[in-house]
Amino acid sequence: MKTKTICFANNKGGSGKSTTCCNVGFELSKMGYRVLMIDGDMQMNLSLSLFGEDEVLHSAQSGNNIYTAITQQADICDYITPTKYENLDMVLSSSLMSNIEFDLFSKWQRELILKNCLASVKDSGKYDFILMDAPPTLGGWVMNMLCASDYLVIPVEASPWGLFGLANMFEFFATVKQINSDISLLGVAITKVDTRKNYFKQTVDALQNTDGVHMFQNYIRTDSSIEWAQDASLPVAVYKPSARSAKEYKALTQEVVSLVNR
Ligand SMILES: Nc1ncnc2c1ncn2[C@@H]1O[C@H](COP(=O)(O)OP(=O)(O)OP(=O)(O)O)[C@@H](O)[C@H]1O
Ligand SMILES: [Mg+2]
Repeated sequence: MKTKTICFANNKGGSGKSTTCCNVGFELSKMGYRVLMIDGDMQMNLSLSLFGEDEVLHSAQSGNNIYTAITQQADICDYITPTKYENLDMVLSSSLMSNIEFDLFSKWQRELILKNCLASVKDSGKYDFILMDAPPTLGGWVMNMLCASDYLVIPVEASPWGLFGLANMFEFFATVKQINSDISLLGVAITKVDTRKNYFKQTVDALQNTDGVHMFQNYIRTDSSIEWAQDASLPVAVYKPSARSAKEYKALTQEVVSLVNR
């Protein structure tokens, strides 16, 4: 199977990108797929969702992270850290990513730097999936992430402001397509849902009526187990296998797999 690269992006902060990237990645690895996750955010939330603070700070300081790989324009293979789970590896982030826009600015073909860093790992066929967690911005770095991706998944919070920002994301995606015509929008995933609230129904209606946008059938409801799992640096399915969100992320992952295998 050819390596499939999926980027989780949305300029709206707190929409569930890191949580979704982590838990979909973990479920894919449990299904037997070989998965590499890339933390592209200076907040290091994806890194912290599987590694303890000490390990994350160590890799930030030692240079074993995405920032060094990008600024050195190096082969990503040399920056991969195995997780304690089978089939699941990660390229951690660093707070230096706060500087990445500035670093990219003077580089030749700056939109394609990440794509080039990933070329050899993709060619090697070592992974079935590469999942990337984007920061809540729309600039040259997220452009890099999307130029290196086959698919975009947009996690959206079911809230008025969650929907408001989406137009910018769609516009940005249209610009990305001019450079990377192979990328497709896999879908919008609704997260942090409270089904008792009317706004959830309104969000679903709005998304179902947006042309050319697939909405994932499996949405993720608000569940405090998510936060406890993150506090323990564990995927929710490991922290509490019976958690509702663990089941929901498993179902969402199955939907992702069936869509990319279409
Ligand atoms: N299903 C859920 N139930 C409860 N809390 C959740 C759920 N999903 C995410 N959260 C919480 O919401 C917050 C935002 O989630 P997350 O960090 O995944 O979003 P993000 O889009 O990556 O944010 P950022 O834009 O800052 O990178 C986190 O504190 C997380 O613990
Ligand atoms: Mg995040």
